[in-house]
Amino acid sequence: MVLIRTIDVSPSMVNCSCAWASDYQQLSGLYHCPHTGAVITRTATLDGFEEDESHTVAFMKDSLSSLNSYGYSPHPLYAYLAWIQELLEKGLSPKPFIISITESSAERLSEMLVTIQQFRASNSTWRSRIAVEFNSSCPNIKGHPPPSYHLPSLKPYLDVFAKAFQDDSTLTIGLKLPPYIITTQFHDLIECISSYTRTDSGNPTNPIAYFTCTNTLGNSLVFADQTPTPDAKTDTSPFAVPPGLGGLAGEAIHALSLGNVYTFSRLLAESDDPAMREIVIIGAGGVTSPEAVRRMNRAGARIVGCATLLGKEGVRAFEILSGNL
Ligand SMILES: Cc1cc2nc3c(=O)[nH]c(=O)nc-3n(C[C@H](O)[C@H](O)[C@H](O)COP(=O)(O)O)c2cc1C
Repeated sequence: MVLIRTIDVSPSMVNCSCAWASDYQQLSGLYHCPHTGAVITRTATLDGFEEDESHTVAFMKDSLSSLNSYGYSPHPLYAYLAWIQELLEKGLSPKPFIISITESSAERLSEMLVTIQQFRASNSTWRSRIAVEFNSSCPNIKGHPPPSYHLPSLKPYLDVFAKAFQDDSTLTIGLKLPPYIITTQFHDLIECISSYTRTDSGNPTNPIAYFTCTNTLGNSLVFADQTPTPDAKTDTSPFAVPPGLGGLAGEAIHALSLGNVYTFSRLLAESDDPAMREIVIIGAGGVTSPEAVRRMNRAGARIVGCATLLGKEGVRAFEILSGNL
């Protein structure tokens, strides 16, 4: 069991926000799976993302890896709140939900948070069972590079979360980070997050309760003949996904994701800021076996998550990761 601020994640395994946590059926399957300790939704926006045929995913043939060109969920925030309400009202499991959210501006993100806070306030038992994760790292949005690669763009969003946390410190807030590759990127992000630590009520507290490391690696290219169904694709395009470029995930990024988890866990543990030392890491990226789960834990992840394996195996993925299959 891992307690992240007010949410209790037990067992310490989750699905990552992804296309297989998109609709009611998928969320219900994840909620009822005994091997997940929390359900993370696909990233929602206020009104839903306009999805077309160019937004898709392909698996690779020689490794348990994926390339996807998806943006965010086509389902708007209110659809997720209605589905979560339905599942929570059935009351079959004490499992928490983490709503992954993002928006094109800090103002719109603020609207989303107000709506989520009203929803949490509408039932006292839901408060400690609904958290939010800010997806600051999707590499596939045209004209909107991931703000977590450019901290001046990230700060207005963090200001919104800081304000929401100041108003209600029971809100558990996570930050979904991209794979970083340069030492200064890790240090700069830590310094940026630490600047939000406040000591107003005695104990130093940071609005951010956890990091999820990592999102997919953007600008990756996979050809159609690297997928299990090359013929179906080569008729229309030489690429695995229509735009060509997409976000790489699965085994192909495992070493990089481990490196990110390891670096952040050391920097957090060594931080002079006690609030930073409280931040939990959810490790994701190429978690496809019980050995990979152990590697994530050794690197410093207290909770481990997967997306690509979920896409390949359905909820059976979590049985595989638990070592039960
Ligand atoms: C098809 C697909 C869709 C994804 N959609 C989202 C998303 O909506 N929000 C998000 O934060 N991450 C998204 N991700 C990234 C995953 O949450 C995860 O960070 C990444 O895939 C690494 O984990 P994996 O190697 O187990 O796939 C997506 C990944 C895949 C493969």
